[in-house]
Amino acid sequence: MKQAELRQKFEEVFGAGGDIREYFSPGRVNLIGEHTDYNGGHVFPCALTLGTYGLARKREDAKIRFYSANMADRAPVVPDLSDLTYREEYGWANYPLGVVWALREQKGLILDRGFDLAVYGDIPNGSGLSSSASLEVLTGVVIRDLYGFEGLTNIDLALIGQYGENHFNGCNCGIMDQFAVAMGRKDAAIFLDCADLSYEYAPIRLADAKILISNSKVKHSLVESAYNDRRNECAEALRDLQSVLSVRSLGELDAATFEAHADRIKDPVCRRRAKHAVYENQRTIRAVEALKSGQIEMFGQLMNASHISLRDDYEVSCREVDILVDEAWKIPGVIGSRITGGGFGGCTVSLVKNDAIDPFIDRVGSAYREKTGIEAEFYAVEIGDGARRVTLSE
Ligand code: GLA
Repeated sequence: MKQAELRQKFEEVFGAGGDIREYFSPGRVNLIGEHTDYNGGHVFPCALTLGTYGLARKREDAKIRFYSANMADRAPVVPDLSDLTYREEYGWANYPLGVVWALREQKGLILDRGFDLAVYGDIPNGSGLSSSASLEVLTGVVIRDLYGFEGLTNIDLALIGQYGENHFNGCNCGIMDQFAVAMGRKDAAIFLDCADLSYEYAPIRLADAKILISNSKVKHSLVESAYNDRRNECAEALRDLQSVLSVRSLGELDAATFEAHADRIKDPVCRRRAKHAVYENQRTIRAVEALKSGQIEMFGQLMNASHISLRDDYEVSCREVDILVDEAWKIPGVIGSRITGGGFGGCTVSLVKNDAIDPFIDRVGSAYREKTGIEAEFYAVEIGDGARRVTLSE
């Protein structure tokens, strides 16, 4: 679907007229720093030019109408402002509805009237490129603009999106995805310290290389329960360490301090989870330093080490994703390659020299097909700006 067609859809479904406004909110890819956000560590994601387009208009009554052109056969979901409750049958619309709810819960902001929102996304669903965070932050930007809630910063909108996802949708995610989507900047990645949300933009100038995303097209079940298990295992490891160390999170530990006290973590599984969290945080800090000083090869090696740690110590990879990464590592011109996002399927992110892109897609694609019977998808992506009001016809 072309973005301009969304307006036609909007008018077809909701009727023409009034002040219809246009918005865009990106997806994200994390370059390094995985499963560190909820451990008080660093992450290094960037916003994509792929994302969610939204058209919205205020209504006169208390209804909210949500329509997705990605599910064109489904009638709009129509909750009422007086009943902001999660309902299974709302499906995807629980994400934007969770934002309306979170604005009230967190900020005491109550909408005086409802609104119509039609969206269309070009982020592959369930790929781990944050289509839900994109939708949440989009909704926040829409509401801030339509209702004049100018006091809300983009960081507020990220936190509200996360709050809605945690407490309305029941997924205990960290802040990385919503932050990247809300605060993204063209051609830069965000070096974010999740302990205090301090951040800095690091320009990504890859003269002769690209960021290539490979989609395994698999999503193993139990993703959410496994994610929550990892969080609990890290929390248990931290509690054990706190019996001898005065730290608030695993992100406060350097490798030497961790190694000196790791035997305090009673459960060997929790010990491996904590090891990943500590080393991955240190790797992320080093990777950003390497990037800043032009050592792109070093950055790539740290990406590879991140994958190994996520595969072996954190155990959030899977056979299909490991095949994509192993095959990528064989290709000359691949600077680094690793699983990205929550895991258990989804995508890998690779830094690939321009002249290796075609051989990569060809060889990784066919090896993957041979070994899994699945046709992977590949996207050479651009880094874009964060969520905002736009003019789609431009
Ligand atoms: C998911 C979560 C993020 C983060 C990543 C892993 O994307 O939403 O908060 O924890 O997994 O790095």
